[in-house]
Amino acid sequence: MKLNEIGMKKEDIKEMYDTYFYETFKRFDFIAESGHDAYLTDEDGKEYLDFMAGIAVNSAGHCNPKVVEAIKAQCETLIHASNYCYTIPQGMLAKLICESIGMEKIYFQNSGAEANEVMIKLARKYGKDNYGPNRYKIVTAMNSFHGRTLATLAATGQPGSAIQHNYDPFIPGITYAEFNNLKAFEEACDEDTIAVMVEPVQGEGGVIPATKEFLQGLRKLCDEREMLLLFDEVQTGWGRTGSLMAYMGFDVKPDCVSMAKAMGGGMPIGAMCTSAKLALTFGPGAHGSTYAGNPVCCAASYAQVKEIIDNNLSENSERIGKYFREILEKLPHVKEVRGMGLMIGVEFDKDIATDVKYNSADEGLLMTAVRPAVIRLVPPLNVTKEQCDKAFEIIDKVVKELV
Ligand SMILES: Cc1ncc(COP(=O)(O)O)c(C=O)c1O
Repeated sequence: MKLNEIGMKKEDIKEMYDTYFYETFKRFDFIAESGHDAYLTDEDGKEYLDFMAGIAVNSAGHCNPKVVEAIKAQCETLIHASNYCYTIPQGMLAKLICESIGMEKIYFQNSGAEANEVMIKLARKYGKDNYGPNRYKIVTAMNSFHGRTLATLAATGQPGSAIQHNYDPFIPGITYAEFNNLKAFEEACDEDTIAVMVEPVQGEGGVIPATKEFLQGLRKLCDEREMLLLFDEVQTGWGRTGSLMAYMGFDVKPDCVSMAKAMGGGMPIGAMCTSAKLALTFGPGAHGSTYAGNPVCCAASYAQVKEIIDNNLSENSERIGKYFREILEKLPHVKEVRGMGLMIGVEFDKDIATDVKYNSADEGLLMTAVRPAVIRLVPPLNVTKEQCDKAFEIIDKVVKELV
């Protein structure tokens, strides 16, 4: 839908938002009207290099033709049937995902938070079923972000933040330990702990990669104490960090991994994957959802995941990510450039991230600010060196003008 096709102006749409919308997001001052590849186009036809990618979602580019084709074809045959029926896209996607990431079973959900919610539910039930009523505790990391449902909010290690303020009391049994500090996790886990849950790279927390020693140490700790290792790969999954799933790059296999964002090519879908043994925890009635694994979302996801695999986008993410991180080091006022693959955080020595974000948008580059001094750059995984050079030029100009 485009404004000139429906005879409306930007102000008409903005007024609808002002009148009818909850304001939980501060929006860019343009209407995102269309998108292709790494570009988003506004109501005036201005193109933005989109290094926000719908919050790390459009990994194979905006409106990837294969994804569009898959959505159209599925819409013409079946949009929804519910999980009481077998559907073709769901079965095909389950096989593709499990076989490409070395997992045995998948449970579809509608979003990242839901994928984590079911992962938490699975761990709690597994603990109680196998070890008794007190074995339901989970340890997560400080500074983590796992979603905004009540259980995932409880798992989010940001006490006192706006994300959590006044939503307490949370579900009991979730405590936090310092990220990348194995000893802190060893101490935080007690005999009632059934699982440890972490992001391989903390995204919303400021793009902070785990160390290999930390994740491998957690694997060993979980094996020794008969606990489950849960990885939240909602943001890191599907090529973002340079391997299909980040755990493949760290050489650490979790017992359960959640995913969402990039897997859907823009359609709302999430999932968790486990071993066949762990999947026995859920029998009929143990969990469910009306929409989860919807045929249109699964068809889109199948096309998107195949695009990522067939075009080696993980490799591109690794190669271009390395190049981009190197040039970003040359920005003025940089304190640290960090990340993996094309999941990149730039920390400045001043709290200028929000200004950099909005001023860069004016110059035609989109990004998010994840901390007062940290911008996050998560372009599509098929981004080119030239597009990264252009992004660098814009940020360089903006920072020089700001400070
Ligand atoms: C690591 C992580 N987990 C969970 C979520 C929540 O996903 P969603 O917004 O799809 O519910 C996010 C979203 O940014 C995320 O980055």
